[in-house]
Amino acid sequence: MSIKEDLIKKFKNKAARVGVVGLGYVGLPLAVVFAEAGFKVTGIDPDKHKIEKINRGESYIPDVSTEVVAKLVKQGALTASVDPLILKTMDAVSICVPTPLRQTGDPDMSYILAATNDLVKTLHSGMVIVLQSTTYPGTTREVLLPKLNQDQAMQVGKDWFLAFSPERVDPGREDWNTYNTPKVIGGITSDCTEVASAWYSEAIQTIVPVSSAEAAEMAKLLENTFRMINIGLVNEMAIMCERLHVDVWEVIEAAATKPFGFMKFTPGPGLGGHCIPIDPLYLSWKMKSFNYNARFIELASEINTNMPRYVVNRIMEAMNQRGILLKNANVLVLGAAYKPDIDDVRESPTLDIIGLLRERGAVVTYHDPYIPHIHHEVDGWQMDSVQDLMKSIKDADAVVIATNHKFYDYEAILKSARFIFDTRNALGFGSKQFEKVTRL
Ligand SMILES: NC(=O)c1ccc[n+]([C@@H]2O[C@H](COP(=O)([O-])OP(=O)(O)OC[C@H]3O[C@@H](n4cnc5c(N)ncnc54)[C@H](O)[C@@H]3O)[C@@H](O)[C@H]2O)c1
Repeated sequence: MSIKEDLIKKFKNKAARVGVVGLGYVGLPLAVVFAEAGFKVTGIDPDKHKIEKINRGESYIPDVSTEVVAKLVKQGALTASVDPLILKTMDAVSICVPTPLRQTGDPDMSYILAATNDLVKTLHSGMVIVLQSTTYPGTTREVLLPKLNQDQAMQVGKDWFLAFSPERVDPGREDWNTYNTPKVIGGITSDCTEVASAWYSEAIQTIVPVSSAEAAEMAKLLENTFRMINIGLVNEMAIMCERLHVDVWEVIEAAATKPFGFMKFTPGPGLGGHCIPIDPLYLSWKMKSFNYNARFIELASEINTNMPRYVVNRIMEAMNQRGILLKNANVLVLGAAYKPDIDDVRESPTLDIIGLLRERGAVVTYHDPYIPHIHHEVDGWQMDSVQDLMKSIKDADAVVIATNHKFYDYEAILKSARFIFDTRNALGFGSKQFEKVTRL
């Protein structure tokens, strides 16, 4: 039996030992899905608090329940470790480490490189490695492969296997999850694709094999670039509609009645999260080395990045019209997370909005049911979520709805607040008739 056949057999009878490197929003749900499918899974992460929590049977990711983690840990199906050398004992490893941008806007590959270095020390014959971190096309072949290929005695596609499989998880979403979202997989060789697909198909409903790692890397960037550009388009629509005195929310709802050829996107205070504002910039960075300027990406990025400033200017104008000076005004911002019903503040435009309001002399407080404390590393400020929400709403000169969490009682907010700037149409079309409301 060849190494490939042996490995595929191990996947079929669940004898393969699975490792997940990086136990965050992507890695923990993936580890759980593999464990639920019957594999023995070990998660590896340098964050010892996460490791301790998992080994105690606790979850720290909202999409994964503590009940499920506790059950899997008790069964011995899921364990966690800070020691990357444990990867030596694994047959199959997924890499789910962060891929942020540097301050300069260039890709920060340090986490991928660190995880790859750990794998260089632990790679063995009969191992498959799948990179899931979003990155620029070519990373798997140009960065991981040469590092991992140092042992000339072992051949990729024959003795060990390497593939890329993009992550599509949408935190907070209930209908589509790690199990039922189709999984694209592209290997360094066709046998790499086959082995990685055989592994993932034991735990994930639908596998979509593609011809290369590059096609899989690029598919992810197309998906996120599509989203970023459409959000940029609809944000510009909001800016244009305001000039024209047309209600952008009404325009979008009307356009969305077209049964074909249109997909609804909604404007907002700017992009947030670990993916949409960042991933397309990995592609534009890569294209620069081909002397190609990714114009759609740059333009959408410019419009989206400017949204917090646009929103703050609109807030200032709206307050001015009502005779309220922003300087020294008490402004309460509702929602710090970058999107509704999650606890993720990474790249959240709310942080920019708070910073810009503070710069203009406003006395800013915020509330978020999921985020008790904000620490802005770059600008050095921090604040706690207000304790008494309804009292703070009543006391505020202005309430800014930055994130439309389902948690909020919008009717009560509308009743109690003196002035509301709604960046998400959370109050709905009916709020149009209220003099105290301005919508984006
Ligand atoms: N969060 C999402 O919605 C989402 C969606 C699709 C794709 N992605 C992509 O998936 C990747 C992971 O994102 P995330 O949201 O899970 O990030 P995260 O920050 O939530 O988790 C990453 C984890 O990796 C750990 N880590 C860092 N260096 C490590 C190392 N050398 N070895 C082992 N663990 C290490 C960190 O401690 C952290 O726990 C990124 O490339 C991201 O772009 C994320």
